[in-house]
Amino acid sequence: MLRPWKLQLDIKSQSKKAIYLQIADAIISDIRSGRLKEGTVLPGTRKLAEDLKLNRNTIVEAYNVLLSEEWLVTQDRKGTFVNSKLPILQKGNINSVSKDIGGLPKHTLNISFEGGYPDRDIAPINELARAYRQIFNSQSRWQIMGYESELGSNEFRNEIASMLNFQRGMQVNDKNICITRGSQMALYLVSQCMLKKGDIVAIENPGYPLAWKTFKNAGAKLLSIEVDKQGMNVESLKRNLENGIKVKAVFVTSHHQFPTTVSLSLERRLSLIQLSNQYSFTIIEDDYDHEFHFDYRPLLPLSSYKELKNFVYIGTMSKIISPALRIGYLVSNHLKLISKVGELRKIIDIQGDSIMEQAVLQLIQEGTIRRYLKKAISYYKNKRDFTEYLLNKYLKDKITFDTPNGGLAYWIIPLKNINWKELDIHLQQRGIKIITPDHYGYNTIVNGIRLSYGTISKSQLEEGIKTFSKLI
Ligand SMILES: Cc1ncc(COP(=O)(O)O)c(C=O)c1O
Repeated sequence: MLRPWKLQLDIKSQSKKAIYLQIADAIISDIRSGRLKEGTVLPGTRKLAEDLKLNRNTIVEAYNVLLSEEWLVTQDRKGTFVNSKLPILQKGNINSVSKDIGGLPKHTLNISFEGGYPDRDIAPINELARAYRQIFNSQSRWQIMGYESELGSNEFRNEIASMLNFQRGMQVNDKNICITRGSQMALYLVSQCMLKKGDIVAIENPGYPLAWKTFKNAGAKLLSIEVDKQGMNVESLKRNLENGIKVKAVFVTSHHQFPTTVSLSLERRLSLIQLSNQYSFTIIEDDYDHEFHFDYRPLLPLSSYKELKNFVYIGTMSKIISPALRIGYLVSNHLKLISKVGELRKIIDIQGDSIMEQAVLQLIQEGTIRRYLKKAISYYKNKRDFTEYLLNKYLKDKITFDTPNGGLAYWIIPLKNINWKELDIHLQQRGIKIITPDHYGYNTIVNGIRLSYGTISKSQLEEGIKTFSKLI
């Protein structure tokens, strides 16, 4: 068989990136540059291992990553091919910088399925307290107790930039970043600086109501786009655009869609980027729990694609340490937007909490956050699997769900119609809190709830799911 493509790869054995990921990324780069065309057959793992003088298992791992991320597909007996359904991205001008019911006892369980928050039993709170103590005890503490840039300390922004570049494939520097008090502030700032009365923002439905309120508060009108198992229906957005609807921005939770947890498929990711460039709308990407992904690695943000001309990327520490730790970041390839955001931030708040930024910086630099995340990912994966075991044990015939590949929640859909208001009251009587589906729908009826498992102990999870099952 003709195999014209040859992987050109300079493996860096000193790199912090595992070799199989270096290979996977080199292949992605070849697909994106067009060197490796859609439908092309890839060399067998044995052959590529020989060519690269590597262990075959390393190549198998790399291919598995690419299969799970949908860059490659397999065909029985024929081999592994470049996915031919991927739209081709046109390269644009990149103006980024360098880039109650009978029979149940009424006792209070105190279980909240609401938040999707991290578990306080494993969050690095002691380490954070230690970092604070060190800062306050240090001789040079006065240096960080004065006024800072409204965009956040340079050192912290540089650290976030290198994390984004190294771990999330972005091409940004400190000038592209404004540190905020959580993603909510980032959403507010960008809405006020980018939107004007009557502008249209396309949103996912079901979706995140606090974002909708923020856009409306800036005078925007919302265009609802339905969500299915592949995330936002980009085809539907496309039809709206083709019908002449002028969209200023698209708000998307591409990694783990809120509330349904699904990841936006690769095909739709690439189409969305293409549409953004064609119709000049900005993609506002809310990557609120990027770190907690249980496949090979988190998916690269849309905002990491060089071809994308207009993006605003929002991340947060809320899910890593605690929602009370108000640190998030707003990133854009448009420096004018960042400077406008800075000006607005200054009149609201002068600057962020530079002492907290310094403490978190210390945790990042000494490797505490990296070690914690490694532990937390396997902890939550285990909890996710345990939750699934309980869902199958107690609710198998009553609900449907898909295993989420990330995030700290399941999206479960009852098979029969539920009176959610009534159920909510019964659950509350037993000390169980849920968010009812009406909360997630934009002028539509939604039948599904988020079952967040992050903060709940295994025994409480079992109690909660058992009780839920008896009530529906
Ligand atoms: C979709 C979405 N975005 C962002 C956030 C986090 O917001 P913040 O960083 O302001 O705590 C959440 C929190 O639950 C969320 O669900």
